[in-house]
Amino acid sequence: MQFFLYLFIALLLLGNLVVLLIFQEKSPILDFLIKHNWYFPYHVVLTLYLLPLGEFGRELREKSFMNFCHVIGPILMKEINPHKPELFAGLKAAGESGKSGKPLTVLEIGIGPCTNFPYYPGKCELVVVEPESFFRKEVEQKLKSYPGIHLKGFYDIGAEDMTSVIDSGTIDAVIGTLVLCSVNNNDSVLREVLRVLKPGGKYYFYEHVKSKPSWKRKIQEFLHWSTIWRYWMCGCDFYDTHKLIKKTGFSTVECKEAYLSYSKFSLPLEFINHNYYGIATK
Ligand SMILES: *[C@@H]1O[C@H](CO)[C@@H](O)[C@H](O)[C@H]1NC(C)=O
Repeated sequence: MQFFLYLFIALLLLGNLVVLLIFQEKSPILDFLIKHNWYFPYHVVLTLYLLPLGEFGRELREKSFMNFCHVIGPILMKEINPHKPELFAGLKAAGESGKSGKPLTVLEIGIGPCTNFPYYPGKCELVVVEPESFFRKEVEQKLKSYPGIHLKGFYDIGAEDMTSVIDSGTIDAVIGTLVLCSVNNNDSVLREVLRVLKPGGKYYFYEHVKSKPSWKRKIQEFLHWSTIWRYWMCGCDFYDTHKLIKKTGFSTVECKEAYLSYSKFSLPLEFINHNYYGIATK
């Protein structure tokens, strides 16, 4: 009995420490955890600790997920960025060649921490649809380094229904990288992407998908069924997204496979290591 009491108190103290930590973007303790490969166990413990809070804990979980993204982001980007020049070559070229015409209108859905700006055309009109309004500051801040990109609109709504902010057939290029895993309805998002594009307009995507039949796919199915992954990763889930894109009704879909390599430090990457990237043309 006493043992459980002590265990309870210990967990409570540990939990409080953990909750304290997530309120700091940068703390020496966080740095220590990251440096010694303890960040992921820490993140699991934190998520479990917030479990009994249910909906009340959502804000804390989102905050901790943001921190998580800031830790995992650079690791992920190191793996993904080598594919981006190839993916966005056509977009850059189209933007640069339109000297006489107007700059391209680009829509980025789920822009997050703006990892794609380096691959944008030098000059464009940018519309952002990003349900997390706190990214607006980051977009404005980062755009200072890209004077040719003019922010035409930032809408903090989901891309499932953009009818109130974007007219049909008005966008030259839609960009979405690592977005479709976390939307509320992937089918509606894709139908909206198709709607807003001009005829011949292009949708540039990079998504992680469910693994091919293997033990990993079985674990993913369990994580999906139990909603553990969705809960831990704030809405991310496993789907055969590349197949869904092909079924949406674009005139052509060109895509390529990529596999991320992962390190001990970034174990969760093992589950999102099967990726597809490509261009769907309306
Ligand atoms: C995403 O698409 C799949 C079909 O590939 C569907 O089964 C699933 O329910 C969709 N998920 C969401 C969240 O829209």
